[in-house]
Amino acid sequence: MKIFLTGGSGFVGGAIAKSFADRHEIIALSRSEKSDAVLKSRGANPVRGDLENVTADMLADADAVIHSAAYVEEWGPWPVYEAVNVTGTERLLKAAKEAGVKRFVHVGTEAALFYGQHMRDIDETYPLAPQSPFPYSATKARAEAAVVAASDPAAGFETIVIRPRVIWGEGDKTILPVVKEMADAGNFAWIDGGRSMTSTTHIDNLVSALELALTCGKSGEAYFVVDGAPVKFREFLEPYLATAGVSLGEKSAPGWLVRLIANLTEPLFRLANSENPPPLTRFTAHIMSRDCTISDAKARAELGYAPVISLKEGLARLAG
Ligand SMILES: NC(=O)c1ccc[n+]([C@@H]2O[C@H](COP(=O)([O-])OP(=O)(O)OC[C@H]3O[C@@H](n4cnc5c(N)ncnc54)[C@H](OP(=O)(O)O)[C@@H]3O)[C@@H](O)[C@H]2O)c1
Repeated sequence: MKIFLTGGSGFVGGAIAKSFADRHEIIALSRSEKSDAVLKSRGANPVRGDLENVTADMLADADAVIHSAAYVEEWGPWPVYEAVNVTGTERLLKAAKEAGVKRFVHVGTEAALFYGQHMRDIDETYPLAPQSPFPYSATKARAEAAVVAASDPAAGFETIVIRPRVIWGEGDKTILPVVKEMADAGNFAWIDGGRSMTSTTHIDNLVSALELALTCGKSGEAYFVVDGAPVKFREFLEPYLATAGVSLGEKSAPGWLVRLIANLTEPLFRLANSENPPPLTRFTAHIMSRDCTISDAKARAELGYAPVISLKEGLARLAG
């Protein structure tokens, strides 16, 4: 299959390009020479462009789109989240339709449902949070809604959303390096002792689900994909960081206090138009201190999804 990929220079997109290289042809949106080189090394053909200017001719005669690019930073101005995540996704949908693409697979996130609450045993019936106070959540929710609304099987244009939660494994650019940096600087503390419950998604499981979504699943539908049963955050993070030789120690702070401090400090940083984030953003304080446990029964039933690697196997592989 000929696939137009966005975000191919990133963690998720890079894993897709590498994994698909021997059985699909990948054309990948690239914003820089640096990304061109990364993409070529992953077996993809770069096409120069940006979500802010992508057009149908860049997609050539692709059969499918996998849309992984997003503004995923923890901090930044609302208009940037909006321009990349919402307007960029809408522009890509339009380009894909015009180019005659048959299937559009969107990399979603459980964070699109999040406004600060626990999310226990949720499935795809749980509502999106387009009014979330967190710019990443609100804009990923609106991007997903645009993808679902664009579904038009009668016109030969199908759209599917795959939602991972806490993506981890080889190539992770967020969780492991960020927590390692905090721990190395002596700034890491558990929230509530790391007792919040979480689902996780190993990168190989996500890539496998995205490949299934190219041909299976119902247009206009979202699917959660996770590794298996949820675990305590600490049961995941401690061994994950240990694979990089990092010990996270015993320091801990109560969730209510961490959220209160983040709620009070972040508005001051926003008011000052600070380029640097506060020590802890409201988003991180909330998402790290709330339970998020997810059922992926729908993906198992309708996509034929089953994890290709378990949490235990993934940790052992990294440790090895
Ligand atoms: N990581 C997680 O734990 C997690 C969890 C759930 C869902 N997700 C979703 O997974 C997807 C991929 O995340 P990731 O972890 O792979 O992020 P990442 O490593 O930071 O990669 C982000 C990618 O987006 C590209 N990008 C950013 N702005 C762009 C723009 N304006 N135009 C074109 N490309 C642009 C970047 O290109 P450059 O290299 O040029 O900057 C990069 O390739 C996102 O949709 C995210 O919402 C991630």
